[in-house]
Amino acid sequence: MEGNLAIAIFNMDLKAQIDHDKLPRHIAVIMDGNGRWAKKQGLFRTIGHENGTKAVREIVECCAELKIEYLTLYAFSTENWNRPKLEVETLMKLLVSSLKKEIETLTKNKIRLNAIGNLDALPKKARTELLDVIEKTKNNQHMTLTLALSYGSRQEIVKTIQEISHKVKNNLISPSEIDEATINNHLYTRDLPDVDLLIRTSGEQRISNFLLWQIAYAELFFTETLWPDYRKNHLFEAILNYQNRERRFGKTSEQLEQ
Ligand code: FPP
Repeated sequence: MEGNLAIAIFNMDLKAQIDHDKLPRHIAVIMDGNGRWAKKQGLFRTIGHENGTKAVREIVECCAELKIEYLTLYAFSTENWNRPKLEVETLMKLLVSSLKKEIETLTKNKIRLNAIGNLDALPKKARTELLDVIEKTKNNQHMTLTLALSYGSRQEIVKTIQEISHKVKNNLISPSEIDEATINNHLYTRDLPDVDLLIRTSGEQRISNFLLWQIAYAELFFTETLWPDYRKNHLFEAILNYQNRERRFGKTSEQLEQ
């Protein structure tokens, strides 16, 4: 009890320091380290993923409390299909069970579920459950929670170029008309603003084919914490760090001051 109280006070301290006028509009997270978390304790990797869902719950709840508008989670990459069959099956089962379990929380907190990636590649059960929750939450307006599933940023860019090329071929658009907005409007993320803060857990410092176009001006935050251990105070820490950065978007500090 004493320990819990101490954590609660520590969290409150960090939370109290957050400037609510300078919140990132869009936070994206590369949830990494589930396997290492499990291995450290002599457990199967799949147990790491199960515990990863607890962190997902806590961070979604925390973002809703802070009134973050967009949260995007890298849940399964196109490359993750190459993992052992049992691990892939477990991740898909966890997706289905989490969706079933969390629909009430999403509804209560007015969170809209969204998904990006090659959803056709998902097993039928996972895709059906996902589309059902997306449909049931489509009018919620407090926060958009996007799950990147069977997602790869390069594949997304290839798909975008193919779609635009078809339009050029059919004289629906001319090459000189193609601009950044054209590209944006063909990405899976067409309804989302650019990412402001990208967090990666577990000490790895790379992007791993995640939202390459959308993070052009994002602030990057890397933490040693393994995803299953990630809690609200870790998110407060990342947001506070973000709020102490100067986002110049190519301008000078002096220009920003004016
Ligand atoms: C990376 O850890 C994590 C994943 C590939 C999957 C993330 C999935 C979850 C947190 C659970 C399911 C999610 C939802 C949205 C219900 P890793 O396995 O690569 O860890 P390692 O680098 O330590 O091996």
